[in-house]
Amino acid sequence: MDLPCLEIHHSSAVFSATVILALPCYSVRGQINRFGLPVSAHSRDFYVRSPRDQVCARVNIDILEFTCCEGERHDGAGQSCCGKRSFNVIQASCCDGQLTPHVSQLVSDCCGSRAYDPLNQLCCDLQILTRTQPHSKCCRNELYNDDHQLCCGHVNKGRKVLTKMSRHHQCCGDHQYDPRSHCCCYHITGPLNPQPLNASCCAIQEVRHTPPAQTVQNKGIAQSSPNCMPGEKPCGQSACFNPITERCCVNPTCLQGQSYSHDQTCCEGTLSHTPGHYHSASCGSKVYNPDIKTCCCGKLSNKVLGVNLCCGTTPYGVEDRGVLCCNQTLHHVVEDGYQCSPGGHLYLPSREMVCGSRVHLNDPGKHCCGEETYDPQYEICCNGRKHHRLRNVSCCGGKAYDPSSGQMKCCAGTLYNLQVQDRLLGEAQCCGSVLMEAGSTQTCCSAPGLDLLYPTQPGFTCCGHRYPNASLWSCCAGVLHPRPEPHNTTKNVIPGPRLLPLGDLKTEVLCHSRVLLGTVESVSVKMNERSIVMVNAMYMQASRGHVSAVPSPHYITLPEHCSSPELVPGNTYIWVKNPFSDTIRFISDLSDDSFPLRSILTMC
Ligand SMILES: *[C@@H]1O[C@H](CO)[C@@H](O)[C@H](O)[C@H]1NC(C)=O
Ligand SMILES: *[C@@H]1O[C@H](CO)[C@@H](O)[C@H](O)[C@H]1NC(C)=O
Ligand SMILES: *[C@@H]1O[C@H](CO)[C@@H](O)[C@H](O)[C@H]1NC(C)=O
Ligand SMILES: *[C@@H]1O[C@H](CO)[C@@H](O)[C@H](O)[C@H]1NC(C)=O
Ligand SMILES: *[C@@H]1O[C@H](CO)[C@@H](O)[C@H](O)[C@H]1NC(C)=O
Repeated sequence: MDLPCLEIHHSSAVFSATVILALPCYSVRGQINRFGLPVSAHSRDFYVRSPRDQVCARVNIDILEFTCCEGERHDGAGQSCCGKRSFNVIQASCCDGQLTPHVSQLVSDCCGSRAYDPLNQLCCDLQILTRTQPHSKCCRNELYNDDHQLCCGHVNKGRKVLTKMSRHHQCCGDHQYDPRSHCCCYHITGPLNPQPLNASCCAIQEVRHTPPAQTVQNKGIAQSSPNCMPGEKPCGQSACFNPITERCCVNPTCLQGQSYSHDQTCCEGTLSHTPGHYHSASCGSKVYNPDIKTCCCGKLSNKVLGVNLCCGTTPYGVEDRGVLCCNQTLHHVVEDGYQCSPGGHLYLPSREMVCGSRVHLNDPGKHCCGEETYDPQYEICCNGRKHHRLRNVSCCGGKAYDPSSGQMKCCAGTLYNLQVQDRLLGEAQCCGSVLMEAGSTQTCCSAPGLDLLYPTQPGFTCCGHRYPNASLWSCCAGVLHPRPEPHNTTKNVIPGPRLLPLGDLKTEVLCHSRVLLGTVESVSVKMNERSIVMVNAMYMQASRGHVSAVPSPHYITLPEHCSSPELVPGNTYIWVKNPFSDTIRFISDLSDDSFPLRSILTMC
């Protein structure tokens, strides 16, 4: 199980370790986001699983319309389940079967049955507290900052926050002491107490601590092991962690989530000549002589000249008549013209057509739509679903709609009816697959491939897909940095534009400005500038029908690296610059659009 990582850095002089921050350090590739952005480990239980359950309480449901949670049907496709209820992981979380709205599961942790954002909050003793420092820690149900505070006292007898009298001070029971002048004396009967170094008990302590073996033993009982909260375990020598939600890494490198290897396929029969043994090779686990035997998928057959291909475990020759290898099975066909479909079906193209895993009789003019056939003259195929072809119809996920009607909005394959909500198309904005509320109550934070929705909070700014309190964290191109103390708000980077879906770009800008389209090949940073190498670039002004290719590669410099969104090499972007400056006004990632040029021209 991958858990958030506490990074512990040892300083050599004193037994001290710093908890860098329990930020999640795991990644699951390709499930929620293509780029393997780190997301909360807890969210893994709620990933949309495929294939979706098509039967809900023994009734068939349309998975493009509904989600089934423990036998209850809910509106909306591809939702996650929290017990019997459904929710969208990009705008809510599920802890202990309870829903917390407005906190995405992808960035949250659970504090009992409530979710919180560990970037801006802490869970102390099952209470959610507002983080006041990037590195705030819990002292029972209070916050403290170990730069200038201590959390002293015994776990069960109450702990309290003390202001460090100097940076050398350490805890000794309920008190603090300076190890340069005092030692911490503990008595079997009484509480821990600091004493001057010349006190007799300090001398005893010193003797006790001298042999290294005993030092280790003493850690268990003396103050050098942190007093951890119930349910917590020591991490290093002065930090505690919750083994359910965090992982302790004494080594400062956080391990990434485990990588998933593809399932191995059958053919392991590798033919490998070993020097000096030219007439033996291995076939699976068997050793054989390739002069007299043929190995197909680990099975040996007698060698026949000219028979040098394998169909599953059966050898055959390219010239063999009347046989066809399909889906690793050798078929004997009576008629010429048989073919093997990409899905492994043997069929006769003059008579049949294969749609997915189904073989249909040929029907002139028909094409495949999912497993079915459809007639493109009268029907439209959206994601394997066929619909009547009405005028101006387009696909949104598996549904068909008329974008020119201005009544519907398509957000990453999910269709919304604006008329029901009494809203105008020009004002509607998408955050991933979610239609944002009208007004500015919500903020959408985007990293490449991941858009999350947060309730708007003053003083907070997006940093990639996270939404931190800007007095605690600064952000540079999607990367968070804890702000040093005292909070220097003058250094706030003004957040740049977020990556918008193409459909949310204002047509007056998209169509009437000179826009740049191109594929980012590489990015480098020099001082505060970002330099970009772009290929296949072109300028376009759609309203005038002007398109001009730019020589490749095309070099661009952005003056503000930190306030520009992260760009992924290999992705194609469209952007519009601000007049009289090189800064970005609007930018959109077109990589999910199979033909962006057409999409732009359709909008203009
Ligand atoms: C943001 O951080 C500041 C500085 O610690 C703090 O005073 C403020 O309460 C935080 N705001 C919220 C909404 O958490
Ligand atoms: C320890 O040292 C302090 C200051 O040097 C002195 O005042 C005190 O009497 C000493 N105590 C003992 C027990 O020697
Ligand atoms: C292809 O072969 C596999 C393994 O034998 C089998 O499970 C599958 O059903 C076959 N596919 C077709 C289309 O016959
Ligand atoms: C189809 O779209 C075009 C261009 O957007 C528009 O002029 C026309 O009125 C639309 N037709 C219908 C029937 O909505
Ligand atoms: C904050 O940053 C500005 C600009 O970098 C600097 O001039 C100022 O002295 C800083 N203030 C504090 C309190 O560090």
